[in-house]
Amino acid sequence: HLVNTKEMLLKAQKEAYAVPAFNVHNLETIQVIVEAAMEMRSPVILAGTPGTFQYGGRDYIQAIAETAAKRYDIPIALHLDHHESLEDIKESIQLGTKSAMIDGSHHPFEENIKLVKEVVEYAHVHGVTVEAELGRLGGQEDDLVVDEKDSFYTDPAAAAEFVQRTGVDSLAVAIGTAHGLYKSAPKLDFDRLAQIQMVVDVPLVLHGASGISTDEVRKCIDLGCCKVNIATELKIPFSNEVRKYLVENREANDPRKYMAPAKEAMRKVVVEKIKMCKSDHRY
Ligand code: 13P
Ligand code: ZN
Ligand code: NA
Repeated sequence: HLVNTKEMLLKAQKEAYAVPAFNVHNLETIQVIVEAAMEMRSPVILAGTPGTFQYGGRDYIQAIAETAAKRYDIPIALHLDHHESLEDIKESIQLGTKSAMIDGSHHPFEENIKLVKEVVEYAHVHGVTVEAELGRLGGQEDDLVVDEKDSFYTDPAAAAEFVQRTGVDSLAVAIGTAHGLYKSAPKLDFDRLAQIQMVVDVPLVLHGASGISTDEVRKCIDLGCCKVNIATELKIPFSNEVRKYLVENREANDPRKYMAPAKEAMRKVVVEKIKMCKSDHRY
């Protein structure tokens, strides 16, 4: 069955690796990710943004993820990525989702705390783990667009207070990563991350990992990031291969055929990212 992210993240924290969280969109992306994770004996998080659930339906996505979790004996979590409303989270929890991010990072500090506390209270009664974000990532994720000038880094002291007052299970930090790819090389603030790790005991979450080098992600893992979010770097090979196949085979119309090379290209990146996270052979 689908699990929450409590145990898998605490084990990752203890053993100094990270659980990869891959953004999914449909049956094919879920299949690719869980099959690769199974082969590599890696725990895995399937992440869906509100846009994904709007597209696929909460019930459909839940059912596909549930089927995957029944089929394979590795820990698989379905996780609500960047959700902003308690109502949406409740809907998924009622369908059996066990892990959720409540993203109140656009709210002022006290409002963020109030919203997160509400979600934590509801979620914990249902055995659901909660991730929240303090600081604000730049870049674009679905409809969520944050201009660089509106992004800001996580303050370590505020992070400690935030975690203590909200009771969240994990904390997403802003240390210089952004959603999507980077126009110029990102500069990560490792000192800040080290300071956060010193005062925050829950697992930390690295968003925006597409476009960040393996070395830098590993450094973040060493500094307490136990969950690494990857969306864009999976979407690119998938869509590139679909495009290539359809251009090269102008008469093609069978999705089972034109999605096959796309799935294979995506699988290779999933394998790479699992290795980057050092989450293989953990179960
Ligand atoms: P990327 O767009 O860098 O893959 O970020 C993914 C992410 O943070 C999902 O929440
Ligand atoms: Zn994110
Ligand atoms: Na990124």
